[in-house]
Amino acid sequence: MACFYWTAPSPISRMKLQALWTLLLSLLTLSLDVTFAKVPLSSVKKTSKLPNNLVPNEFIIEVDELSKIPTKRSYTRSLDALYDLLRARDVSFKVKKEFDSTGIFVGAAVSIKTAQDAAALASTPGIIDIRPVYQYSAPKPVTKHVVTGPNDAAVPPDGQSTHVMTGVDKLHKESITGKGIKIGIIDTGVDYTHPALGGAFGPGHKIVGGYDFVGDNFTGSNEPVPDNDPLDQCGGHGTHVAGIIGAIPGNQFNTSGVAYDSEIYAYRVFGCDGFVPDDVLIDALLRGVKDGNHIITLSIGGADGWTEGATSVVASRIAKSGKIVTIAAGNDGSAGMFFTSGPGNAINDISVASVDNVAVALQSVLVSGATHDPVIYFATFALPVEGSFPIYATSNDTTVVDDACAPLPDSTPDLSKYVTIIRRGSCTFVQKLDNAATKGAKVVLIYDNGNGFAAIDTGDYEYAALIQSSDGEYLVGQYKAGVNILLTFLKGGRPVDYPDPNGGLVSAFSTYGPSNDFYFKPAVAAPGGKILSTYPVPLGSYAVLSGTSMATPFIAGVSALLLQVKGNSQDVTAGARTLFETTATYIPSNKTEGSLLQTLAQQGAGLINAYNAIHAPATVTPGELILNDTTHFNSVHTFTVKNNGKKSSKYKVKHVPAGTALTLREGEIFPEFGPVPLADASAQVVISPNTFEVGPGKTQTIRVTFQLPSSIPEARLPLYSGFIEVTGASVGDTYHVSYIGLKGSLKDQKVLDDTDYWFTDFKLPVLLNNTTDVQTVPTNYTFVNNDYPSVLFRLAFGSASVRIDLVDPKIKFVPTISPTQPGRRATPDDTGTIFSFPHHHDGGSFANVKIIGSLAEFTYVSRNDEVRRTFFILLCNS
Ligand SMILES: *[C@@H]1O[C@H](CO)[C@@H](O)[C@H](O)[C@H]1NC(C)=O
Ligand SMILES: *[C@@H]1O[C@H](CO)[C@@H](O)[C@H](O)[C@H]1NC(C)=O
Ligand SMILES: *[C@@H]1O[C@H](CO)[C@@H](O)[C@H](O)[C@H]1NC(C)=O
Ligand SMILES: *[C@@H]1O[C@H](CO)[C@@H](O)[C@H](O)[C@H]1NC(C)=O
Ligand SMILES: *[C@@H]1O[C@H](CO)[C@@H](O)[C@H](O)[C@H]1NC(C)=O
Ligand SMILES: *[C@@H]1O[C@H](CO)[C@@H](O)[C@H](O)[C@H]1NC(C)=O
Ligand SMILES: *[C@@H]1O[C@H](CO)[C@@H](O)[C@H](O)[C@H]1NC(C)=O
Ligand SMILES: *[C@@H]1O[C@H](CO)[C@@H](O)[C@H](O)[C@H]1NC(C)=O
Repeated sequence: MACFYWTAPSPISRMKLQALWTLLLSLLTLSLDVTFAKVPLSSVKKTSKLPNNLVPNEFIIEVDELSKIPTKRSYTRSLDALYDLLRARDVSFKVKKEFDSTGIFVGAAVSIKTAQDAAALASTPGIIDIRPVYQYSAPKPVTKHVVTGPNDAAVPPDGQSTHVMTGVDKLHKESITGKGIKIGIIDTGVDYTHPALGGAFGPGHKIVGGYDFVGDNFTGSNEPVPDNDPLDQCGGHGTHVAGIIGAIPGNQFNTSGVAYDSEIYAYRVFGCDGFVPDDVLIDALLRGVKDGNHIITLSIGGADGWTEGATSVVASRIAKSGKIVTIAAGNDGSAGMFFTSGPGNAINDISVASVDNVAVALQSVLVSGATHDPVIYFATFALPVEGSFPIYATSNDTTVVDDACAPLPDSTPDLSKYVTIIRRGSCTFVQKLDNAATKGAKVVLIYDNGNGFAAIDTGDYEYAALIQSSDGEYLVGQYKAGVNILLTFLKGGRPVDYPDPNGGLVSAFSTYGPSNDFYFKPAVAAPGGKILSTYPVPLGSYAVLSGTSMATPFIAGVSALLLQVKGNSQDVTAGARTLFETTATYIPSNKTEGSLLQTLAQQGAGLINAYNAIHAPATVTPGELILNDTTHFNSVHTFTVKNNGKKSSKYKVKHVPAGTALTLREGEIFPEFGPVPLADASAQVVISPNTFEVGPGKTQTIRVTFQLPSSIPEARLPLYSGFIEVTGASVGDTYHVSYIGLKGSLKDQKVLDDTDYWFTDFKLPVLLNNTTDVQTVPTNYTFVNNDYPSVLFRLAFGSASVRIDLVDPKIKFVPTISPTQPGRRATPDDTGTIFSFPHHHDGGSFANVKIIGSLAEFTYVSRNDEVRRTFFILLCNS
């Protein structure tokens, strides 16, 4: 049997993987608007990307204390003692990086080549844990606009709207600005040459220090070239993040950082392009601790679904040791529930969700020749045009469906002297613009046809934007009536504050939790949608970006304000998340009066209220009540209210439910896409006492008993959530404790996709033959060159352990989980025991099934992403 296999000898062995990679269905676009269609396997294009961005054969090992490692020679470092043991066992290994931070993490990133070495490594004493290495892609904003040049400097009228939304403006008025607090930013570096970021680097400047762990050319797989200069002039992301925390007031855009008097350390972990692996992130985190930062922030991550990733574990320990660590929740909202990111999953850290800015700064043109308000066009920065122009409408019919989709008629005049007005619809914006450009058009305003006022794709055309339907209809009406309308574009633009229809709601892109092990992720939300901040000088100096990446530094900034006021004792740092959670503001699911509150799986405990967090007269703990799933239902909880004031205070307590999120699609094993549908079905809650009085300095304990929501079917795996609200007598004396629970059993959830949902002619999982066709008949393989089989499979839900074993084809296999019905719970006959972790592989059998060998085993995997349409394929090629 040439197929590569081994049996892991030790309970701590984490994984053994061969080449695993992801298939992308090339025929299907990423857009969810496209009608879904099954495809034949032959139409599938393979890309060699690893699932969960796993780095093959690299591991992060954690090493025990020196005294616990049995070596003959004496060493001063436990790592050296371990290497000695490994050499004695003939393990061939390469050390990529060492971590020597006693009390937080002592270990190394190592690479090994063979399964024998992996097995030997796993059985070596002195190793506490072995975790795989993942890579995280350079953070990509969800939307982006960069200023095109110095003349494009149109000031959004309220750069501070995010501060007003969260009470940061009021703290600034009290001179709470983060003075004396150090914040480490782990990102693409910072362009400290930017005047709003101090213009220089080093002690005495805004960016006081930092390190470049990688160099410009680092891609994630080549050798990093570190140096002492974390300058970012090619990425931009870290510079934007730094401005949200620290932009110096009085700049040309009138923005300021949340904690603009704080000191920033910049840790660069990305080259100009590519990925960062866990070992570099851990290095940067430990450096951030060593440099004495009070707060460390990471707007980095990738879907992993569990709290067990190497960086998550280290980041969590750093938080426990007395730092505040803020990490982005992720931008995977469209993927639906249970799709959290690592390292944002870190148990003790603050995972940050995004809320859309309330005000979109848009541009406008003046109307003359008739009395009409300025016409607003959807662009943050002014179109690069100046002066007054008459208008030309390509159609006088304001109900035309395919305006300018065909070449314009010969009778069309030279359009270069006009602002051309075209109605939206039928073909792409670029096609309309091409047709107008053929007739010389320079400036084009496209009016909406009811699809919504938003940013549009104008391709390479810089002089085009969308206007609202009412404005377009008005302009065309005047034109048709022969009125001489002039549109005037002012130099530098004419910004207006346009209320974002989604402003104040959770950003659609913000990732849904909870983690698969049911931690409350995300924890809290901050403004992250449509944020103006600094950008590298060579890339335009300012940009508007959207993402949980933008929300995360906001919370880091608020943390600095908190530490400035309350000091950085362990009590304050460890209590920060609870304080932010219990004083946050509820977020509705939409703008309709009386709409359900957004599920806590997406909003966390709500939008941060920095002012209330810092000035709250009472302390409520804990901030989160985890009810877990039905199998592990914790129905009774207590929390406390401590009155920190000088007077006795009366409180009332009540239940405020949020919408119940339907995890799964009806009748399917697959998750609902975001925005996840909400049901009006809440838990029943008994609170005792629900009114009470607490003396100054005294504490009251409240007991809460939950009952599952009864009206909602378990088959949809509904996640119910809400708040237990505590209201005191004065304004700002309101708190809440957040709860989440699942009706249904995660343990009984179908993990392996066994449907024919994806492919026309077979069900997953399947064995593929040497031409990557489905193997339909018994086939012999030589395992020479490319003659080997592969396994194509997909996970419909995350799993703490996945293994693929080779078994005799004649074996009678009795599955321990119901094979057919989605969402059905295991019957009492089923043992329910699928895996136990960590598990032993006792002499060639698993779950009472005799195995010939184990082909692959991996732990803590996220489900496959249906939005990006990913699969796993296991090559049995050695
Ligand atoms: C980065 O790569 C480019 C192109 O391969 C090379 O010219 C340059 O010297 C490299 N820079 C460093 C710092 O290694
Ligand atoms: C700049 O912001 C301050 C407050 O943050 C405000 O008072 C001032 O009017 C703003 N200036 C402009 C030009 O918008
Ligand atoms: C639209 O109306 C204007 C003004 O009445 C007229 O000059 C123009 O020819 C009309 N356009 C079309 C396509 O009929
Ligand atoms: C939920 O229950 C599972 C199973 O007991 C447990 O492993 C997990 O830690 C629990 N989650 C939390 C956040 O308590
Ligand atoms: C807004 O919420 C209400 C009540 O929860 C619901 O009936 C309505 O469908 C929602 N509207 C949108 C646009 O989602
Ligand atoms: C691979 O499978 C396909 C489809 O079942 C079959 O037509 C083909 O002959 C197989 N190729 C080999 C080399 O076995
Ligand atoms: C595979 O090889 C064995 C041993 O040579 C042979 O008996 C068997 O017929 C082969 N099977 C197929 C499907 O070619
Ligand atoms: C696949 O298997 C067939 C039949 O054994 C063999 O002739 C062919 O060379 C193999 N193809 C590759 C790429 O190894």
